This record gives sequence, structure tokens and C-alpha cells, in this order.
Amino acid sequence: QKDGFRFFMEKEIYEQSNVVSDCMLGRIQDEEILFDEIDSSIIEGINEIKICACGTSYHAGLTASYLFERLAKVRCNVVIASEFRYKEPLLTKDTLFIVISQSGETADTLEALKMAKNAGLKTLVVCNVDNSSMTRLADHTILTRAGIEKGVASTKAFSTQTVVLWMLSLYFAKQNDKISKETLQKEIHALREVPKSLIVSDKMHEKTKRLSKRYLHGHGFFFIGRDVFFPLALEGALKLKEISYLHAEGYPAGEMKHGPIALADPELFTIALMPENLLYDKIKSNVEELSARDSTICTISPLEFELSDDFIKTQKTDHYMLEFFEMLVVLQLLSMEISVRLGNDVDMPRNLAKSVTVE
Ligand code: M6R
Repeated sequence: QKDGFRFFMEKEIYEQSNVVSDCMLGRIQDEEILFDEIDSSIIEGINEIKICACGTSYHAGLTASYLFERLAKVRCNVVIASEFRYKEPLLTKDTLFIVISQSGETADTLEALKMAKNAGLKTLVVCNVDNSSMTRLADHTILTRAGIEKGVASTKAFSTQTVVLWMLSLYFAKQNDKISKETLQKEIHALREVPKSLIVSDKMHEKTKRLSKRYLHGHGFFFIGRDVFFPLALEGALKLKEISYLHAEGYPAGEMKHGPIALADPELFTIALMPENLLYDKIKSNVEELSARDSTICTISPLEFELSDDFIKTQKTDHYMLEFFEMLVVLQLLSMEISVRLGNDVDMPRNLAKSVTVE
């Protein structure tokens, strides 16, 4: 069943380009986004979107919050489901409540969904498993069509969730008349290119294998990025933690000087996400600060950066989300190769279960 791949995780990383194409099939027509599962009534009277999820699905939600505000001009906040449950959240009926879950069974997310339903909110689940507890409960379901995901470390679930949420932000933007024709065209053009950005090249995989030798020891990793590359940094750090058991933290790059930079030394590895199309100069100056404090720097970027110790070159594109998806693949491969080198069980990391159905 691994189709010649060493691990399910590896197979699922390689599958991403195809499953994302499936996920978009029929949902992009000419210059329009269409979802058969929903209609425009879903956003009537909505002034805010609240997203609830756990783990990797939470990272997809955080990514989406930038897209909903930027493209659809709708207020969006994101809460970790286990926090949402007990914070006595204020829920108003002008809020669309979105839960994101690969399995549709995560206990905390399911409970959050029940709370929103009980409060009379419109609810939507972005899910990979049809007929799961969440799809049965939510008013609306959008399926991510990623196929069965076996590796405990989520990969293709995240890329498909992010693509669905990006499409949804454009759908809302169009329905609410918040996006110009040109911008919509540009976004749709970029969406169509996502499968290409997710293709794993031999060169990229070899590079991550080679680098994995170097990034095994030391006292930890910072993954840093700005804007949507901040949730991507969180996702990169989570991937590394869960399958390599190395300490890693994801940070918004601009936060480093508010404390974490005190940890910088050569044994502290910084993985910097440096997209060309979004805030390049800002992240560059954050990386310069870390380099000046002797952190070992690995940059992932289409642009070479003189201060980096290691450099993973990504393709030049004209949209930051295409950079996002290619960097995602790099981060997934890097954590997998580090885990392999450490002799860990890539698909079934210690202490973890694929689906967390208890609180
Ligand atoms: O099935 P869900 O998307 O609700 O699961 C949520 C998390 O448990 C899950 O994303 C977890 O963080 C992954 N193992 C991360 O790779």
C-alpha cells in the first residue's frame, strides 16, 4: 500500500499535488469559485468568522484568517478548540462558525461545534471524512478530498484544507462584492498553479536529505515567518517535534526580539521562511538579527541570502501562496528526513494517535 515509498508520510507528501487537483475539481470554473455544498445564504447577515480546530488543522485555520480578512474583508478569529470550550466564549448570531478537522472526530473540536450549534450559529465543517461526527452535526460540510491519510503526521490534509479555505475566502469575497475582478482573476490563476508548487522534485528531496545530517543535534529550532508564513512556521515546528522529538518552536519573525532571541547561539537552528512576494525585507532584517547573534541559519527562499549557513532554493513565482505551498513540502520533507536519520518510527511516532477522540 505504500506504493514503493518508505513511509505513508512520504507517500502522502508526494500525493499532495494530485489530491489538491482533486480538491479543486469542479470548484473553479472559468473565473468563479463554486461549491455545490453551500450557497450564498451561508454568509447572509454574517459579520464575523470564527474558526476552531486543533493541531495542524488549527494552523490551516490561522492561515485562513489572513486570507479571509485580506481577500473577503471579513473579520476572522481563530481559537484552539480545547481553549474555546472553557473560556465561556461570547457567541453572536452574526458569526459563521467554521471547524476544521481531518478526521471529523477530534473530541475538542466536536464539542466546540456542538456549543456553536447550541448557541444558534451557522456552522460549517471543512473535513476529510464524510459521514464523520462533525459532518453529521454541522449545517454545511466542505470535503477536502485528500483521500485516507495514514501517517500520524498530517501532510495532505493540511494542504487540502488550506486550498479549500483559500477558495472559500474568494467565494465570500465575490458574494459580498469585496474583491475586484482583477484581483479575483489573479487569485484564481494562482490557485490553478498550486498543484505545480506541490510537486516534489528529486533535487528538493535530495537537498533535505543532505541537510538532515546537519540538523540533528543542538538545543533546538526556531521556525520563523511572517503573515501566512507564521502559521506555516508553526506547522513546520509541529512536524519536526512530532516525528523527530527535537525541540522546535514556530514564531512570528517580528516577535524574536521580544524574548526568544536571547536563546540564539550556533546550536540554535533557525529555519527562516523568506518568500519573495511578501514582506521580504522585513523578514530579512529579523534573520540578520539572529545571524548577528550567531544562530545557525537555514533559509528557504527563491532568493539567496548572504548570511545563511544553508539555503534551500524555492522557485520564483508571482504569488506568495505558491511560495507557501512549496515551502510546506520542504518543511515536511526536512522533518521526515531528520526523523529517518534519528531512527524514529516516521508513521507512528511515540505517544501520539492519529485521531484524538478523548479530551
Ligand atoms: O483530525 P483533526 O484534524 O481534527 O486532528 C487534529 C490534530 O490532532 C492533528 O492535526 C494533529 O495535530 C496532527 N497529528 C499533526 O500532524
